[in-house]
Amino acid sequence: MSASQRVLELREQIEQHNRQYYVLDAPLIPDAEYDRLFRELQALEAANPQLASADSPTQRVGAAPQAEFKSVAHRTPMLSLNNAFSADEVEAFDRRAREALAVAGEIDYAAEPKFDGLAVGLTYENGIFTRGATRGDGFTGEDVTVNLRTLANLPLRLNGKAPPRLLEVRGEVLMLRSDFSRLNSRQRERGEKEFVNPRNAAAGSLRQLDSRITAQRSLRFFAYGIGVSEGIDLPPSHFAALDLLVALGLPVAAERRRVSGLAGLLGFYAQLGAKRAALPYDIDGVVYKVDSLEAQERLGFVSRAPRFAIAHKFPAEEAVTELLGIDVQVGRTGALTPVARLAPIFVGGVTVTNATLHNQGEIDRKDLRIGDTVIVRRAGDVIPEVVGPLLDRRPGDLPRFNLLARYPTCPVCGSHVVRADDEAVARCSGGLYCPAQRKQALLHFASRRAMDIEGLGDKLVDQLVDGDIVRTPADLYKMGLLALSNLERMAEKSATNLLAAIDRSRQTTLSRFIYALGIRNVGETTAKDLARHFGRLDSILAASEEELMQVADVGPVVAQCLRQFCAEPHNVEVIAQLRAAGVAWSEGEGRSPAPAASAAAGKVFVLTGTMPSLSREQAKELIDAAGGKVSGSVSKKTDYVVAGSEAGSKLDKAQELGVTVINEAQLRILLERATDHE
Ligand code: IVH
Repeated sequence: MSASQRVLELREQIEQHNRQYYVLDAPLIPDAEYDRLFRELQALEAANPQLASADSPTQRVGAAPQAEFKSVAHRTPMLSLNNAFSADEVEAFDRRAREALAVAGEIDYAAEPKFDGLAVGLTYENGIFTRGATRGDGFTGEDVTVNLRTLANLPLRLNGKAPPRLLEVRGEVLMLRSDFSRLNSRQRERGEKEFVNPRNAAAGSLRQLDSRITAQRSLRFFAYGIGVSEGIDLPPSHFAALDLLVALGLPVAAERRRVSGLAGLLGFYAQLGAKRAALPYDIDGVVYKVDSLEAQERLGFVSRAPRFAIAHKFPAEEAVTELLGIDVQVGRTGALTPVARLAPIFVGGVTVTNATLHNQGEIDRKDLRIGDTVIVRRAGDVIPEVVGPLLDRRPGDLPRFNLLARYPTCPVCGSHVVRADDEAVARCSGGLYCPAQRKQALLHFASRRAMDIEGLGDKLVDQLVDGDIVRTPADLYKMGLLALSNLERMAEKSATNLLAAIDRSRQTTLSRFIYALGIRNVGETTAKDLARHFGRLDSILAASEEELMQVADVGPVVAQCLRQFCAEPHNVEVIAQLRAAGVAWSEGEGRSPAPAASAAAGKVFVLTGTMPSLSREQAKELIDAAGGKVSGSVSKKTDYVVAGSEAGSKLDKAQELGVTVINEAQLRILLERATDHE
């Protein structure tokens, strides 16, 4: 047998044993025998470098570190699920589905665990694993292919003689509880930081630029659906699609059932809830999906979540601890938020030491006093909450807590704290004089949906503000390499990367810029509406309250906040400096006085494939700005499918339904026509 034949044979055998061990939990050979096969393959590959292949099981040990993760546009968006916290909410979900589908009897559902890990999409081309990406913002994720290759139960090659031309498998990466405790004892022994829970450990391990680290962390993958497929006939139901994935060699949780109607759903919930503690991995609820794929299609999506599926969460865990004190945090707009300082307590998978109390009203309503014994609640991915005091454990003489009395002046800058009569919150009156407000304003300015300056996190902003290097957002654009490299924990490489990110942010859109200014009550949507209505920044700066109120959803409060902001010379100055520093956008972009007048307005678009110059996110922004809608799946209601290269099954679907298919250039024309109309 030639070396190349033996290599192929070994790869197949080893993958088969991997599957037996990790997926089917039924090893066929002893570990020592497996190790022997593995070493033989390693030796053959080392002696015959021309036989190396990315889908060899030897590649699971990781590869040389990468400089950064590339971003990947998802062929179909990776959406989130709506949550149900009670049987009533599940009943409502089932009722809505029956009504929308006009089903008289019971609906069949597929019920599965809701894994507490992180979502990824795995692309297989002709049966070979070629790419894996994180969910990211749902439209674009990070390319973590090399890291995913190290997962022992992730097939690098699909089973079967005739693999689909293209298959994107969606699922969750997680760490088994046993692997998590092993990892933490190892961390402890080495004097390194322990991870708070398996989910954080999984996230931290997957997003390693050095995949050799990922390889040592024993992550697992569980498939729960199909994102895109070509060259394969999908079965008619989700449950059968999961069986198909199993047949292809993918790991799918055994805890899945096809159930009927509301009773079936709640029965599954109770069963899995009882088993939860004994499962090898963490789950934070169960997921119900209408089983028929045709019915799923008809139900479609609302905003970012499907109508055909819902996550039924397990109740949040509760624990009892002491309320040691109440501190305050100063936010971007000066709001003083009281924060409970708690005796450390392990609840819902993490150790909680503090929890927001929101405002004075909340403290009064719950009647919380420093020194109380309190109930703390935390559900999986939700922030911890102080439920209330155990009154029978209160020592008789605890005084009420009064925020204004305790903090007559801002703990950060010493300015007066004021509370307007009609407002729930107390605010520091220091404005941008207050370092805390300045820090928050900078973080907001740099945030992803604002100017999107990657790498400008809170530790860095603390240093920049405390060191008086940056006072206003405009100062960011004046920083040099030297000032940055002198900061603590800032290597020259990260400084260069940050400066590049700052430079990239110079080219932006009007709506992002307005949002980035952090004007009170002007969120992302209002910023978009303003940009669309006025088209130019100067028109917004000059507009009267009446003119501002012409914009849909801008009421007197928002209009007043805008006027106050623009009347402040300091703000006008910062805007001028930002423009002088080269921050720019194309004026008039997305402008359309009444969205209904534009050619794209009210139209439903579906994006598929990779466009030559626009990312998914950018295309979506442009369409949104022109008053159109972007949907995740093609149906009769779709007006245009925008297809790029390697367009997926949506293109087929569009052709089948006779939906107009356009390319990026045609999309741009359509959007331009929208602006010409004015
Ligand atoms: S289906 C269209 N099934 O939950 C929605 N998601 O909020 C597709 N998740 O980030 C998701 N277990 O990673 C689905 N059995 C399961 C899941 C599951 C966990 C995660 C998923 C997503 C989040 C949705």
